[in-house]
Amino acid sequence: MQNISTIAELRERLSGERAIAFVPTMGNLHEGHLNLMRLAREHGSCVVASLFVNPLQFGPSEDFDKYPRTLEADCARLQSLADVVFAPAVSEMYPVQQTVFVEPPPIADELCGAARPGHFRGMATVVLKLLNIVQPQVALFGKKDYQQLHIIRQMVMQMNLPVRVVGGETVRAADGLALSSRNQYLSAEERGKAVFLYQTLQEAQRAILRGGRDFERLEKQSVEALRSRGWSVDYVAVRKQSDLQPADPVQGNLAQHELVILAAAKLGNTRLLDNVEVYLAA
Ligand code: PAF
Repeated sequence: MQNISTIAELRERLSGERAIAFVPTMGNLHEGHLNLMRLAREHGSCVVASLFVNPLQFGPSEDFDKYPRTLEADCARLQSLADVVFAPAVSEMYPVQQTVFVEPPPIADELCGAARPGHFRGMATVVLKLLNIVQPQVALFGKKDYQQLHIIRQMVMQMNLPVRVVGGETVRAADGLALSSRNQYLSAEERGKAVFLYQTLQEAQRAILRGGRDFERLEKQSVEALRSRGWSVDYVAVRKQSDLQPADPVQGNLAQHELVILAAAKLGNTRLLDNVEVYLAA
């Protein structure tokens, strides 16, 4: 595995490669990232990972400075999984003040975007830069960040970027908690309670599969269930997978059969995300 920190050296190294599979990350890798790396190997003969904590996607009151930087440990974990690791400094990615941005679609202002103004704009901008730098044939992102994946797919499609986007399934701990770099901030007591977010989504999923179609009521019930256990809830939302717009029951039946229930909620100071997909018989 080669560890590269400049764009010029990376371009030189990748110049002869014809099947690059790329996994962008902010480092602090866990099994969810490693799973994406293994999936990447199925999609390319040269697997590239980036480790870059992107200042553009953090709000002024967010944890950019505190975000864990674990370069050495990350490189050790990637040793047998990646051919190239790209770990640029902020000055390499942003040598001048970034004044050109990707304007993400309106959905970027809803769900997670409502609590994190500008987050998806900064995320989409760095992803576009990374795709231009690496020029992969395939790029992989986790489904845990479902809204992020949706926005990236829209950017790639609407901007005609020559890359195929692949979504990796969410990797979960034994109790069902979705793996996330943020889980390490949970106290032992909070960690014990954290799986309730996933359980709440599963409960809503079962209700829909049993025929429940009053999505607003389901969302409210899920929010109440979380609040009653001490969570501070940003949202629970039943949406269509295709465009993340509210799912619209039509006379007890659904025009759309592929739904996703998304949630973001805080346990103590730690904000966790999760989602479950729901497939209804046509
Ligand atoms: O999901 C992440 O880790 C980041 O948002 C990404 C896609 C690497 C862009 O900084």
